[in-house]
Amino acid sequence: ADEARIEDLIRRMTLEEKAGQLTIMPDLSRAGAFANANPTQLAERAEILDQVRDGEVGGLFNGVGAAGARELQRIAVEESRLKIPLIFGADIIHGYKTVFPIPLGESASFEPELAERTARYAAIEASAAGLHWTFAPMVDVARDQRWGRVAEGAGEDVHLGCVFAAARVKGFQGPDLLADDSMLACPKHFAAYGAVTGGMDYASADIPETTLREVHLPPFVAAFEAGALTVMSAFNDIAGVPASGSRKLMTDMLRGEMGFDGFVVSDYTADMELIAHGYAADAPDATLKALYAGVDMSMASGFYRDHVPDLVRSGRLSEAVVDEAVRRLLRIKAVIGLFDNPYRSLDPAREEAGAAPADIRALGREAGRKSIVMLRNEGDLLPLSKDRRLALIGPFGADEDNLFGPWAWLGGKENVVSLEAGLRAAGATFTTVKGSDVEAPIDGGIEAAVRAAQAADVVLLAVGETQNMSGEAQSRIDIGLPAPQQALAEAVIATGKPVVVLLRHGRALAIEGAVREAQAILATWFLGSETGHSIADILFGEHAPSGRLPVSFPQASGQQPYFYNHRRTGRPQLTPEGAEYKARYREVTHEALYPFGFGLTYTRFEYGPVELSAARMNADGSVTARCRITNVGGREGEEVAQLYVHDRVASLARPVRELKDFRKVRLAPGQSITVEFTIGRDHLAFVNPDLRRVAEPGEFDVWIAPSAVAGEPVTLTLA
Ligand code: IFM
Repeated sequence: ADEARIEDLIRRMTLEEKAGQLTIMPDLSRAGAFANANPTQLAERAEILDQVRDGEVGGLFNGVGAAGARELQRIAVEESRLKIPLIFGADIIHGYKTVFPIPLGESASFEPELAERTARYAAIEASAAGLHWTFAPMVDVARDQRWGRVAEGAGEDVHLGCVFAAARVKGFQGPDLLADDSMLACPKHFAAYGAVTGGMDYASADIPETTLREVHLPPFVAAFEAGALTVMSAFNDIAGVPASGSRKLMTDMLRGEMGFDGFVVSDYTADMELIAHGYAADAPDATLKALYAGVDMSMASGFYRDHVPDLVRSGRLSEAVVDEAVRRLLRIKAVIGLFDNPYRSLDPAREEAGAAPADIRALGREAGRKSIVMLRNEGDLLPLSKDRRLALIGPFGADEDNLFGPWAWLGGKENVVSLEAGLRAAGATFTTVKGSDVEAPIDGGIEAAVRAAQAADVVLLAVGETQNMSGEAQSRIDIGLPAPQQALAEAVIATGKPVVVLLRHGRALAIEGAVREAQAILATWFLGSETGHSIADILFGEHAPSGRLPVSFPQASGQQPYFYNHRRTGRPQLTPEGAEYKARYREVTHEALYPFGFGLTYTRFEYGPVELSAARMNADGSVTARCRITNVGGREGEEVAQLYVHDRVASLARPVRELKDFRKVRLAPGQSITVEFTIGRDHLAFVNPDLRRVAEPGEFDVWIAPSAVAGEPVTLTLA
């Protein structure tokens, strides 16, 4: 029935209506937007109402507020000629009013079920505000920490990227796409946006097709397998061809090879930007190239709306291409029930009643503490007992403006829990001294901080990045602490007091100087609305840290791009002494300060040797890898056992290690558990020079280890 309805509509649509349907705009978040507008306020925005009435838009962007959205939908389905419902989309990346940890932080949980739960709750809360569609998850693999958008994804690893991509899609969409609280997911940015050269946002991705296929596409495949029905085209070019104008990428690979069956939306003006790339001559040419490539819907530029009709009339663009794009879009509108129930998710009463689940804040707190990674804890300084006198020093102690991180501009500012508020709620005894602003010194700040440190038993030093230092267009060349904070940290640590460094950040940081030697260091990312509670839970030992790094922390900024699964080079530095004419920098080895997968907790685990069920595997067979892990410390704790492989000799040089699977286990003191992984052919396969995914016979190293650099491998032979 839907197909017949869609074909009937396409037959009756004018070219203008087709072009309008393929347009999402205007950007209502900008000045004069209707965000949270009620119908009366909306009536003053005649141009928006007219666009809807005239069928000039198929979707609206960043409009939140069920009442306003319902009124716009009423105009679409009652007053427009063909009565086609609108789709309402926005960037709900890590929460709506209740903000969860940034996706990078949450990925440190190594717990995809957690990401599924937070995405589900975000969708429940946001859909009540009149939204059907989120431009998330970002599934770009990000191997250069200078890139500001590292914050939005799952980090540097392909496998972690895949499992979190799938989890987030499932969470946003929920079990029933027709439900009021389901939001369509839109994995982005297709493709290789995370490979921008030098980590500079929007720059070119100069990668071979093998890397594209092996590193950057798999998380999209995982997202589609999890049910994603829309995808966003990327801004960047890949080896000279802008992604949003690449028919090979958007059609041959996406639809032909990956079997994607939904619709593609451009990133914000990415179709228009084909001109700036030097890939299209003018607006009609850019429109033609993007649409022909396979970008079905144009975001914010208005190019499709303005140029498609004339391009068809002049014979430059086949109407069949336009019809196919319209068909794809209308099908997804049908899949989410908009034709039968255009007012789904647009119920002001539901919004007013507060749709957020009662335990949404508890979930935020749990997600926050599971995102925290303990990097250092000399002399078991942590957990702290509450009777110690603390000095909370640094620009992020009392701060309430940098809890959310990037892409949470709709987050509720009321009831946020700063670090200071979290300590207070935990019953801690402390004084707060700012000491320095984030990027500027404060007169007398360091002196005051030193005095506070001297008067305290333990210092909590809250330093790092503002939330605007990561996210879109926020690439950095130096990923260390800003100089005024480094100076503050040096002075405070020089007092000799025990210091716990609480890092706030949207990427891996290069920790330098005395900060490296602080007695304890916690990576706390941007944890969202419940920041202070989550951190206090860990500091005072209500919960033990369980996060593991989803990105390598380098020794210095200049090492970027640094990622654990690099190839070995012809001259690897294998021992600390053997540095002459080896792959390293003059100043530092080719190693991380804290590697991918690393994280401490309040107990210790010992790994037994890895055992394979067979040392040889047939091409179509599998083997089991096992390892016994024992909690040898005095507290309960969680460990993330990680399965890595390395192909010793292949037709393309292979990474030193690659994560293939992991298990998070909880063990009581003295308890042992045997973790098991099944290794199949796919775990050993890679994209060969002919662009085919193959597993070549030969020997492989297999580790089950607590990080990307730990453990002893065993040999597996693939027959
Ligand atoms: O969804 C985003 C995208 O990630 C970056 N450009 C703007 C889009 C819409 O806000």
